[in-house]
Amino acid sequence: MILDEQTIQQLVVQNTTPLMVLDCAQVIEQYQLLQQALPSVDFFFAVKALPHPALVNTLNQQGLGFDIASQGEIELLRAQYINPRCSIHTHPIKKDEDIKAALRFGCTTFVVDNADELHKFVAYRNRVGLLLRLSFRNSDAQVDLSKKFGCRPDDAMHLLLEAKRLGIHVKGLSFHVGSQCRSADMHVYAIHQCHKIMTEYHRQSDSLLSIIDIGGGFPVNYDGQTQDIAHFCHPIREAISQLPAELEIIAEPGRYLVAPAAIAVSSVVGKANREGRPWYYLDDGVYGVYSGRIFDHVHYPIKALKQGPLFPSVLAGPTCDSIDVIEEAIDLPCLDIGDLVVGEMIGAYSTATATRFNSLVATTIVTLNAPEQIPVSYIA
Ligand SMILES: Cc1ncc(COP(=O)(O)O)c(C=O)c1O
Repeated sequence: MILDEQTIQQLVVQNTTPLMVLDCAQVIEQYQLLQQALPSVDFFFAVKALPHPALVNTLNQQGLGFDIASQGEIELLRAQYINPRCSIHTHPIKKDEDIKAALRFGCTTFVVDNADELHKFVAYRNRVGLLLRLSFRNSDAQVDLSKKFGCRPDDAMHLLLEAKRLGIHVKGLSFHVGSQCRSADMHVYAIHQCHKIMTEYHRQSDSLLSIIDIGGGFPVNYDGQTQDIAHFCHPIREAISQLPAELEIIAEPGRYLVAPAAIAVSSVVGKANREGRPWYYLDDGVYGVYSGRIFDHVHYPIKALKQGPLFPSVLAGPTCDSIDVIEEAIDLPCLDIGDLVVGEMIGAYSTATATRFNSLVATTIVTLNAPEQIPVSYIA
């Protein structure tokens, strides 16, 4: 997201820092690019990446569904009158209260990855359709999501047959091969493995699975070296084209839709010289909008609005903790207190994972091009 200096200054005058500016029009552009790259896939936005009402409304108007994982995310959708049939609950581990709350909302698709979780659905077997999540470890992903979740592909058949024995409807298979993937190799491998398991399950049980959920992992270009989405998705598209046409393919993108659509605007609130280098302290840091530096392992493109010769500098956050350093080695002009620093591509897993450590003010989220009215697509 590119905003000119004057617009940023105006937003700061109106809202003061720390700020995150989210452009809903750019979210739509991201969605269109992903849709063009994977035209036969139905998308469910992973709300966890940026749970914000304007974003939910924007994506709802574009016809996306929603991937939810908690009662809080359900409340966000409910408050925006989202049709619950357009939601899938993808957390593989849930309390009974979580299942009940999702069912009360009207969400009936859930994810499981083990026998204990499967048994939680016996009581609700007439009301749900499940996806069985498989694990595919992926060293090509910045964030590995298959260590904590997913059954081994070798265990899938046993779990599918157990579900059938219990009378629980399994609709399909799902996976998440990790976030911010460098290549689509593991998506392709996982799609082929899922198809093999589905074929074998059909042979053994005479039952059909109808969905493959290919998760997220679609990368954005933080480092200027990431391949564009059409290129990244090309092998996935090829793999999908080899599947039976009647299979429904869905995905749960988070990062790709929102990361490039937001910037963080923070003020320099203090400075020091330590061991020969300038340190600049901002009013936002790794406990705030830059939390993705810790949890998401991202180095964001960061620059000062001020122009001038650049010097190796340290950029730190406002809390009392020494881990609150945004960049240890960043080239910045000589900054003064009050100068503005802009972090780009910061829409995903930023405010979503921020904490309130030191009881500092939360980053204000300002939206641009947000839908004017909440579309009442569902009336309870
Ligand atoms: C179950 C699930 N689906 C989707 C996503 C979104 O993944 P990404 O942001 O890589 O698209 C995540 C991310 O943690 C996830 O855990």
